[in-house]
Amino acid sequence: SVHRARAAITRHIRLVEDFPSPGIAFKDLTPVLADPDGLDAVVAALAEYCAGADLIAGIDARGFLVGGAIARELGVGVVAVRKGGKLPPPVIGVDYQLEYGSARLEVPAAGITLRGRSVAVVDDVLATGGTLIATGKLLAEAGARVHGLSVIMELDGMGGREAVAAGLGADVPVHN
Ligand code: PRP
Ligand code: MG
Repeated sequence: SVHRARAAITRHIRLVEDFPSPGIAFKDLTPVLADPDGLDAVVAALAEYCAGADLIAGIDARGFLVGGAIARELGVGVVAVRKGGKLPPPVIGVDYQLEYGSARLEVPAAGITLRGRSVAVVDDVLATGGTLIATGKLLAEAGARVHGLSVIMELDGMGGREAVAAGLGADVPVHN
């Protein structure tokens, strides 16, 4: 249940002051996922949100940790949404803006079928929403339907959920 996942996160999360820059407290989920009960709780909660999708897409890099486990739980396959330059051609890619500079995400354009599939996207953290918006646009460009977007944890006060609703449309559910 979501309650069990939240309890595990509260219990195991590690706060790292002044990372990646001064004044920022980084929320490290590593100990949550390294704990057997924490991993089970998080995967079970995310799998509930992803149920009904026919493919799970895990976002580079920490979305991979839960993506495969969720897919296995639901009896579907998994695909990695990778940072630019990692996948063999052909790929479909999307460039998007970060606070400083830009980034690129890619999915395979051969070997798997995305067109017409219902794809559930998973990642570790929702902050500004830029990563989820880019992924949603990428999958739409590939002809997939975005079943929903699920993250282990949403950072408060960054407007991520609102940005995703504005960027992808309010009909794409966001869960955490
Ligand atoms: C982090 C995090 C999310 C993203 C959230 O990834 O894992 O993917 O930022 O931020 P946003 O909502 O503002 O887009 P990062 O790009 O730092 O890379 P990593 O997953 O490879 O560590
Ligand atoms: Mg990431």
